[in-house]
Amino acid sequence: MDFFNRKQHSLFAEQCPVAELAKQYGTPLYIYSRATIERHWHAFDQAAGERPHLVCYAVKANSNIAVLNVMARLGSGFDIVSKGELMRVIEAGGDPKKVVFSGVGKTSEEIAFALNLGIYCFNVESAAELERIQSVAQGLNKVAPISLRVNPDVDAGTHPYISTGLKENKFGISIEQAPELYQYASTLSHINIQGVDCHIGSQLTEILPFLDALDRVLKLVDELAEQGIALSHIDVGGGLGVCYDDEQPPHPKEYAEAIAQKLTGRDLTLIYEPGRAVMANAGILVTEVEYIKVSEDRNFAIVDAAMNDLIRPALYQAWQAIIPVEQRDDVASAQYDVVGPICETGDFLGKDRALAISAGDLLAIRSAGAYGFTMSSNYNSRPRAAEVMVDGSESYLVRKRETFSQLWQGESLLPL
Ligand code: LLP
Repeated sequence: MDFFNRKQHSLFAEQCPVAELAKQYGTPLYIYSRATIERHWHAFDQAAGERPHLVCYAVKANSNIAVLNVMARLGSGFDIVSKGELMRVIEAGGDPKKVVFSGVGKTSEEIAFALNLGIYCFNVESAAELERIQSVAQGLNKVAPISLRVNPDVDAGTHPYISTGLKENKFGISIEQAPELYQYASTLSHINIQGVDCHIGSQLTEILPFLDALDRVLKLVDELAEQGIALSHIDVGGGLGVCYDDEQPPHPKEYAEAIAQKLTGRDLTLIYEPGRAVMANAGILVTEVEYIKVSEDRNFAIVDAAMNDLIRPALYQAWQAIIPVEQRDDVASAQYDVVGPICETGDFLGKDRALAISAGDLLAIRSAGAYGFTMSSNYNSRPRAAEVMVDGSESYLVRKRETFSQLWQGESLLPL
């Protein structure tokens, strides 16, 4: 559930009329709802009950520091994949001791930076990375807390680009090889084995693959215990899907409780790394219709947002709802392809949508709070959108619209 609702004909973000926000801040505009973020975060946090647990929000989904700060104030942990994300967490007032560091390509500099901040755990993705963490930690005279990311080889049944738990993917260590690597890790002087983690993919709409993966990981936990390696936490990754169209993913509470239940009787801290499930429906992208173009076999609504602002439709053929900000009954509804101004056929936000609109109207692309702004770019030299957070009847500009001179900031001409 989110807090973007229609009152009569007008769309509201919490108590703020979206049309007024668009007027005040311009378009394209990302709008986030604080109440929605908090509601979704609490669903994960509360579902774990009395079990020691940590919700490590996946920063990649939306890394605006105001978003991170809302979660930091709730006591959230964070799942990061780069030094940049870690620096954002710190800037936002997050606690580095609640940070897990994922990703297949951590550099020595990133490892040193995270070690010096005293993060909770490195989610190690390969034997080579383990060696590197050992050597960086040794150089700094520190002990690195680690977990091995295992690949349980389950099919998440999601889009191939965001499926990560199969053997053929680049992520993690195969679950069969994991015991050997744990044994080796236990011999390393500057490594402290803490846990195990897995992440099988994103936008999963069924609970079964999560539970299958967990069963396999728990088997590994038992096997390791028999070999004298006791783990203190299990990190189940992220991946819970949201409703973009007519998907029916389990509710975060249902998902989180089912997982927590599997750990009954075990002395393990539970870590979740949700990204999309917290943020997707906590944000919309507002855009203005510049032109209506009627061609022989298609109608186009040409809008001022484009694939550089929201790449999910172009990259994954993702479907996101597009609704008018003000409902009209004075124009007829027609089928439109909603497209941006970028010079690529792939630059669309939605195809074949029934809309009653004319030029100058505002549209809201829903479920845009996750993997929206963070995947945006300056392609076609388009300044990136502004971002606003609403909180009840207040709105705050949490990122200014980029200026044109920022586009070439850092570039320079050749000498004469
Ligand atoms: N943990 C790890 C290790 C991950 O790789 C990811 C996402 C997450 C947690 C968070 O997953 P979530 O709860 O958000 O599903 N850009 C794509 C999604 C890529 C997800 C990458 N990893 C999209 O727009 O659909």
